[in-house]
Amino acid sequence: MLIAQLSDLHLAPDHDPVAGTNLARFDEALAAIDSLGRRPDLYLVTGDICEHGDVGSYARFLERMAALDTPWLATLGNHDRPEAYAEAIEGLPDRNRIGGPVARFDALAVVLADTSAAPQHGGWFDEERAARLDAALASCAPQPTLLALHHPPVRIGLDWLDPDPGADWIRHLRAAIAPHDHLLGIACGHVHVAATTRFEGRPVAICPSTAARAWPDLSPLDKERPDGRPLIVEGRPGFALHHLVDGKLATMFCDTREGAALYRFERPI
Ligand SMILES: [Fe+2]
Repeated sequence: MLIAQLSDLHLAPDHDPVAGTNLARFDEALAAIDSLGRRPDLYLVTGDICEHGDVGSYARFLERMAALDTPWLATLGNHDRPEAYAEAIEGLPDRNRIGGPVARFDALAVVLADTSAAPQHGGWFDEERAARLDAALASCAPQPTLLALHHPPVRIGLDWLDPDPGADWIRHLRAAIAPHDHLLGIACGHVHVAATTRFEGRPVAICPSTAARAWPDLSPLDKERPDGRPLIVEGRPGFALHHLVDGKLATMFCDTREGAALYRFERPI
């Protein structure tokens, strides 16, 4: 079982200066995944599909996903607009799109949770969402299950992006997943940088963005005193590969390739 995760595409309408760039970066990531020599069993998209949540950008996204001819599943982020996304889907039926919050494969189940409540930047998860997630996870037991959502529910040490670990939304999420021993791990996005950590005893893999990347300047930060540090840098478009190997989920974080291959398989290893 191989899952290709893409996150934080930030596709934008033509009048936005990032429109062409972010679409090209998304295409570059799709092309890189296509060159891996093995078709993923699932494409998983973890939110911030669009910068402003416009129907046209969702339509461009949906056209590309439909062309993959592979099952795919998406959850939304804080930049997305659920009504516009729903409107775009209406106009473009796609037999590969998995519409519900649960996707079941022979070896693994994938469950989506929505942590977004635009225009709020941070996560949102109330008791109603927690009850839905609890039921979705229960419906997969005892099959090993991956949970996908946009906002990491845990700090990674980037002060300007990190959530308040005591926030209600994190408490609700923790309560929803705690009873589910079959939950193998959590896949997120949002922070535009590749990272791994743990939440409620489960590994958390944070997928890098296909759009511009966060730069981990770790010097002390005072949110009230701008100091000109780089927060977002161009970087390469990134993606993650979750590979089920020997019953464990191995995650490889990748950037799209730049430059020549320096070492090739030209004699037996
Ligand atoms: Fe984002």
